[in-house]
Amino acid sequence: MTSKSKVLVSAPLAADLLARIETEYDVIQLPSANVLTAGTAGEYAEVVGWLTTVKQPVNAGILAELPAVRTVSNYAVGYDNIDVPAATGRGVRICNTPGVLDDAVAALTVGAILNAVRGLSRAERFVRSGQWAAGSPFPLTSDVHGKTIGILGLGRIGKRVAPVMAALGMRVIYHNRRPIEGEVPAGAEYVGRAELLAGADVVLLMVPLSPATEGFIGAADFAAMKDTAYFVNPARGALVDEPALVEALRSGSIAGAALDVMAVEPLPADSPLLELDNVTLLPHIGSATVETRRAMAELAVDNLLDSLAGRDPKGAVNE
Ligand code: DGY
Repeated sequence: MTSKSKVLVSAPLAADLLARIETEYDVIQLPSANVLTAGTAGEYAEVVGWLTTVKQPVNAGILAELPAVRTVSNYAVGYDNIDVPAATGRGVRICNTPGVLDDAVAALTVGAILNAVRGLSRAERFVRSGQWAAGSPFPLTSDVHGKTIGILGLGRIGKRVAPVMAALGMRVIYHNRRPIEGEVPAGAEYVGRAELLAGADVVLLMVPLSPATEGFIGAADFAAMKDTAYFVNPARGALVDEPALVEALRSGSIAGAALDVMAVEPLPADSPLLELDNVTLLPHIGSATVETRRAMAELAVDNLLDSLAGRDPKGAVNE
């Protein structure tokens, strides 16, 4: 009997999905909290495929210890944890899960925008801490209708957020490297980056993280925003100069923020963000619903099996 090739799974997969992989491969399963490094990855030198999460860096050093690996299937749409050129140079196919999480992340993003502008979390803290008393109402917040949302990086998810915010009465402007070709959602108007930063009441960051976009938003950008503006980031923490954001929130050079992502996750207990009341802090939950995580897991398994079998995976980052 010929033995099966081995596949490493360091992502939380349901038993039926693991069983699908096991029909063709021997699965080595690791807890997703178990992050491999150059120096420990060599223990799995025989694996031909690896299904993992964004918490796992995949770089040249780690790949050098996994000489048999042909496919890394990321259980995420983002793949900033992976050195794609290094993988491509090694002939390793990288896969991700585009499409299936767009609606869930868009819904969370709309919630984060409304939470920032209308102060929902602050208002709940106000009630729970017993401050809601006659004669001391919760401070007034701002309307969203009649205001402008500026989307930096209008892609699949931003295209779902835009019509919702337009339906709530917001004007939508956006900035991408180039204007979108074809139909633009919610009549979104293309503007320059400076115009967007200066004109938006809500600045929504939806740019993918790559070496080119690290630190995409910094002190000068916060200074360019209105002091009544809200900054919302459901994308990646490393896109933002976080100390500059803290300073902008502290000094009142912007009104507030909502973050589903931070520079370091989980957010360290001594993060200055935790001392600020004008920022909504969420634990990277954009895609974290039962249905969406299931769809992502199914796609990640399809990608792994398709790629290893020489079929074109639906989510392929490199060719
Ligand atoms: C993604 O899929 O990139 C989400 O941010 C979850 O990590």
